Amino acid sequence: MQQFQVEKAVLGNHRVVEVDDVDLEQDEIKVRIDKFAFTSNNITYGVMGEQLSYWEFFPTANDDSEWGVLPVWGFAEIIESNLPALPEGDRLFGYFSPATELVLRPQNISDERFHDGSIHRNHLPPAYNIYRRVYSEHKYKRTFDDERMLLYPLHLTSFCLWDYLRDNDWFDAEQVVVLSASSKTSIGLGYALHLDEDSKPSVGMTSERNLKFVTGLRYYDQSLTYAEVDALDASIPTVIVDMSGNQIVMSKLHQRLGENMMRCLNVGITHWEEEKSSSGINIERSEIFFAPGHIQKRLKEWGPEEFEKQSSGFLQQSIKESINWLQVTQLPGLKGLANAYQDICEGNIHANQGLIIKL
Ligand SMILES: NC(=O)c1ccc[n+]([C@@H]2O[C@H](COP(=O)([O-])OP(=O)(O)OC[C@H]3O[C@@H](n4cnc5c(N)ncnc54)[C@H](OP(=O)(O)O)[C@@H]3O)[C@@H](O)[C@H]2O)c1
Repeated sequence: MQQFQVEKAVLGNHRVVEVDDVDLEQDEIKVRIDKFAFTSNNITYGVMGEQLSYWEFFPTANDDSEWGVLPVWGFAEIIESNLPALPEGDRLFGYFSPATELVLRPQNISDERFHDGSIHRNHLPPAYNIYRRVYSEHKYKRTFDDERMLLYPLHLTSFCLWDYLRDNDWFDAEQVVVLSASSKTSIGLGYALHLDEDSKPSVGMTSERNLKFVTGLRYYDQSLTYAEVDALDASIPTVIVDMSGNQIVMSKLHQRLGENMMRCLNVGITHWEEEKSSSGINIERSEIFFAPGHIQKRLKEWGPEEFEKQSSGFLQQSIKESINWLQVTQLPGLKGLANAYQDICEGNIHANQGLIIKL
């Protein structure tokens, strides 16, 4: 079995480790990972590895605690099973390790899904522990696997952000500023705002190199570069949704908007290598937004069926729409990931690219 690992203290360092196969316990299955997506979101799992326990999902196969495993979203097939309810050959969608194989301990098995009940995952957010048995899905087609791996976790977050903003009356703001506007999570939010006639006008902020792409999407009402903070109309009460974690840009924005900075949702850290400083940032009006937390809240309030209905309606639409901007690139094997990893860390992948690792 091969597993892709990164050094926790120096995230840019990576290696592929090979270990012997393990024997299954009575209540376990073994899956062969078929393919998975890899975006800035996976790098963020590493940046937040300690604070948000992302290192705990998949322990290193060689028990080396200095190194960690970045979780990924993908598809896998059951190759060995001690559970009659889960036959070999069944295809799963969910959260995996970037590895050739993974052992799971399924619980709450239904025709549609199960949970991994491995003890080390029990305390982790439940949304990450669900595996969908895709052959049970009414209209399942492999044709959309790539888009699903790439966009499902990110655009589910976009849906949650749109829902949260709307549920809070847009925090009394009259415009929504989205930072790192070219990221897939931001694009999903831009699209949700674009679809909603009752939403507020949006401004997508991005780097110079991605401005053309962001403008071309036509989801944001206005597009600006990070250097154009002064061009933002600061007389309008504004809510900021930040996927960048870029404290310098944020500080300039907060100061320019002053009292009109109604709320800032800290969602991501695509600019994870930038300097960290909270000076000039209105911390009292800032909050961390964590999609799995919002999902849990809505599951309680709406019930699983209603949540599934509302979120999957949006996801189906946004995945279909992605044909207009997303270009999928397949990389061969864990070696393919290793070759591209540095560029992903440094943000050198074009914003329209969606990387899929095919094992
Ligand atoms: N809180 C939550 O629950 C939650 C859920 C889902 C995602 N997220 C977060 O949202 C963020 C976006 O994730 P994604 O997968 O959608 O991103 P992505 O599509 O891979 O984003 C790519 C874009 O991010 C920026 N970027 C990436 N690496 C960079 C670097 N090293 N330096 C400077 N800019 C860089 C560039 O955008 P610009 O030029 O436009 O800045 C680039 O076009 C991640 O931090 C992710 O963890 C959070």
